[in-house]
Amino acid sequence: MPKQTVRDLDVKGRKVLVRVDFNVPQTKDGGIADDRRIRSALPTLKDVLDRGGSLILVSHLGRPKGDDPAADAPYRLDMVAARLAELLGKPVDKAGDTVGPAARGLAAELKPGGVLVLENVRFNKGEKKGDPEFARALASLADAYVNDAFGTCHRDEASMVAVPERFPPEKRAIGFLVEKELNILDTLLKSPKRPYVAVMGGAKVSDKILVIESLLKHVDKLLIGGAMTYTFLKAQGVEIGKSRVELDKLDVARKLLDEAGGKIVLPVDHLIADRPEAGATVKTTDGTAIPEGWFGMDIGPRTIAEYAGIVKEAATVVWNGPMGMFEVEAFAAGTRAVAQALAESKGVTAVGGGESAAAVEQFGLADKVSHVSTGGGAFLEALEGKQFNSIKVIPDR
Ligand code: 3PG
Repeated sequence: MPKQTVRDLDVKGRKVLVRVDFNVPQTKDGGIADDRRIRSALPTLKDVLDRGGSLILVSHLGRPKGDDPAADAPYRLDMVAARLAELLGKPVDKAGDTVGPAARGLAAELKPGGVLVLENVRFNKGEKKGDPEFARALASLADAYVNDAFGTCHRDEASMVAVPERFPPEKRAIGFLVEKELNILDTLLKSPKRPYVAVMGGAKVSDKILVIESLLKHVDKLLIGGAMTYTFLKAQGVEIGKSRVELDKLDVARKLLDEAGGKIVLPVDHLIADRPEAGATVKTTDGTAIPEGWFGMDIGPRTIAEYAGIVKEAATVVWNGPMGMFEVEAFAAGTRAVAQALAESKGVTAVGGGESAAAVEQFGLADKVSHVSTGGGAFLEALEGKQFNSIKVIPDR
């Protein structure tokens, strides 16, 4: 059932508490490395403002301990509020606390069209614990609640579950970003057009067991790349040289291959290097085996051609995890080729998980795929088939 969305709320003259995920990647000097999560919330924020409401925005940034202001300083939300003001083209107030006197004072003064960003919600111990007292204090600032923090939807923290519970059902909603993310997940898990292909990369099989098991129930083919390839190959008795491997997951890899009934496709060649770093000597293998002393760093040219062909033919594609160590240009060809194939596909193409989303951005292809999820863990857990309490608490329409 579709959920109540922000467009169902009467916001005129009301203060709307919007839980956003402004947990942006930061540069070394504390700036914003990528503002995509802020930009992705704009449709919801503008909708409330355009209809005469005001905004109280609550987010976390990083994983501060919340007991040492000096140590927590890099996690303050001032630079996020400043970027939001630029993007909205209007002043944004920033409170120095989340539910203290500063937040309460600024919230009380908020006029229609006003925007207030509260301080990092994780500076409060009650957030992680889902504390009811903290939730009551946060909820008391506003008249209605909107969850537009898809990246945090897998967390049961106070601002995600206990806070919306404090509002009457007709005053709780999801925002446009969460709606869009849930719609694409619905397509991927319930109504994909076929052929349906998943491309799974990344370093560890252990991180992806549940999502691979879940996707095998839905997809026609599941293409494997990234360092987890070598665990799958080792499990089949193939030589992998000095490549990264999870020796304690060989049984798991064998079990997944058995369960897959031929749906799992593994690389047929590799780009290998004498050292796993920039400047290494590289070459490609003739077949699946990797010679002694060499490291598998990326999928090879024959695999690239095969995977790109399968992706381009697919009507639905979901991609999570890079094909190799793409941060190093010499090892980026496989990840770039998969991104390019998704961009050229005429089907529904969804990219999720921090690294693959970063890859499509880096290659300038983010606008050419149907959807780049703002979720890392949330996207993976949703693909695993988990139902989130943060979504259950929002009533159906
Ligand atoms: C994320 O970046 O995945 C979300 O913002 C959640 O952050 P967390 O893993 O620190 O809960």
